Amino acid sequence: MRILGIESSCDETSAAVVSGTAAAPSLESLVILSQDVHRIFGGVVPEIASREHLTAVVPVTRQALADAGCALGDIEAIAVTHAPGLVGALLVGVSYAKSLAQSLGIPVLGVHHMEGHLFATALEHPTATPPFTALLVSGGHTMLVDVPEWGAYRLLGETRDDAAGEAFDKTAKLLGLPYPGGRHIEALARSGDPTRFRFARPMLHGGQRPGDADYYDLSFSGLKTAVLHAVRASADLESDRPHLARAFQDAVLETLVAKTLRAARAEARTRIVLGGGVACNRALVTAMEAAAREIGATVFAPSVRLATDNAAMIAAAGLFRLERGERSGPELNAHSSRPMPGLIDAGAATH
Ligand code: KG4
Ligand code: ZN
Repeated sequence: MRILGIESSCDETSAAVVSGTAAAPSLESLVILSQDVHRIFGGVVPEIASREHLTAVVPVTRQALADAGCALGDIEAIAVTHAPGLVGALLVGVSYAKSLAQSLGIPVLGVHHMEGHLFATALEHPTATPPFTALLVSGGHTMLVDVPEWGAYRLLGETRDDAAGEAFDKTAKLLGLPYPGGRHIEALARSGDPTRFRFARPMLHGGQRPGDADYYDLSFSGLKTAVLHAVRASADLESDRPHLARAFQDAVLETLVAKTLRAARAEARTRIVLGGGVACNRALVTAMEAAAREIGATVFAPSVRLATDNAAMIAAAGLFRLERGERSGPELNAHSSRPMPGLIDAGAATH
């Protein structure tokens, strides 16, 4: 099957062509247009995002088709992100996908953005397939999920406040770095001395036992406040900035790695799959790899283009569901928040 994927949930307009089968997907093209305008405002402005998607969605799709060397008539189905995200932004992709599918007489399927992130890594690493432990860390979500098979997702833990990427972005702001700040913190942290500052590892301590409500859950807002206090207390912020960035990043990474390893060990998984924008962080990948080695597990991380928001992952997740016969009807709509299909709260019994 040859599928056109469309993604417009936040500030990237993206289209991709993926062909083959869900078990062996082949990425034929991927176009990602990032909306730089939001940098001026230090965060995504929803109304502006929607308007930018409107001007970009048609040319971005045309380019993805051209890069794949195919015409509209070669596309057999369309997969589009329909949740979660900014409703106005999602609506642009959903409306366009629905009308295009209608005019071509082909099926359309609404895909959950986070399920897309789960599929992204397998596009580059054919063995990044279930069963695996997944850590999804993006600007809007932080989820620790056990994946026994595609379509079956056991939510072990999630953030109780800020998402990991959001914590990077807010901390970057406190340190006077541009938006989005994740990669700037990572770059600054490289020259930071890890012994100059130390922040408590959020929701992580040795006394936690499986079944405890906070065993897998995460939290980042307290850490952000700790950075704020350290910034205020600093006598020489300019020279302290790299050390603060390093201390913040070390605290986030140690928590993410420890909780992911707990999950992999508990479920006896030998594969750990990372996804979402924060998975671009090389220090995270390196720390996760070192810890995974101790339990004989392999870490799979997507490249930058597939870690951040993109339509290839939406097409890949769509391919899996279309193969199972799933289709969306004309009522397909955009939703700001909606549970991932197949997700069960495995921590519910203990919360
Ligand atoms: O998955 P994504 O592109 O969009 C959402 O679905 O939210 O993730 C964007 C997030 C931003 O918060 C950004 O700061 C973060 O990913 N990010 C990073 C790095 N690169 C991007 N965080 C830490 N280190 C990085 N190198
Ligand atoms: Zn995302």
